[in-house]
Amino acid sequence: MTGRRVLLGVTGGIAAYKSAYLARRLGERGADVRVIMTAAAEQFVGRQTFSAITGNPVERDLFDGSSVSPHTDLASWAEVIVVAPATTNLLGHLANGLADDLLTNTLLAARAPVVLAPAMHTEMWEHPATQRNLAVLRDDGHEIVGPDSGELAGGDVGAGRMSEPEAILAVVEKLLEHD
Ligand SMILES: Cc1cc2nc3c(=O)[nH]c(=O)nc-3n(C[C@H](O)[C@H](O)[C@H](O)COP(=O)(O)O)c2cc1C
Repeated sequence: MTGRRVLLGVTGGIAAYKSAYLARRLGERGADVRVIMTAAAEQFVGRQTFSAITGNPVERDLFDGSSVSPHTDLASWAEVIVVAPATTNLLGHLANGLADDLLTNTLLAARAPVVLAPAMHTEMWEHPATQRNLAVLRDDGHEIVGPDSGELAGGDVGAGRMSEPEAILAVVEKLLEHD
């Protein structure tokens, strides 16, 4: 993985804290990691955590003026994009081609393979809209990792727990091997 360019998208779920460890493991394997956080993700983890772990500033804004076209720059930079956690909101946007922030615009502008690690409460996971979007995303060729079953936020137990960072890492590594 040395020198491979991995773009990590972090969306607004409790499991965002696990993404910090995923970023660290990617870095340990030698990847160059850049992170896009959604506005909601910043409610769960601070952007300084990801910038300190990756050594790169966190990307967040489509219109902050630091780049003329941040979404296309990031999309063409990435060799692989992994979104972990992927909220049901993110899945819905991507499945329907909706782009209203930096992450969704980057995903739609990308040719790189995309790995999605959904995480949400069981009811949201099992909702027909989420499952319909998942089917579209699979059909579009995206890799879906998990979710696992187990303990969820608030002490509930069921399907919707984000896969462990090591399992996501293994999928990213496999995709890069075949590239
Ligand atoms: C405490 C809390 C936890 C949440 N956890 C999740 C979650 O695990 N998965 C999910 O899909 N949405 C979750 N949400 C809802 C999302 O944060 C919300 O849909 C948000 O708009 C997602 O934005 P994003 O997809 O741009 O990050 C949670 C909301 C709150 C208040």
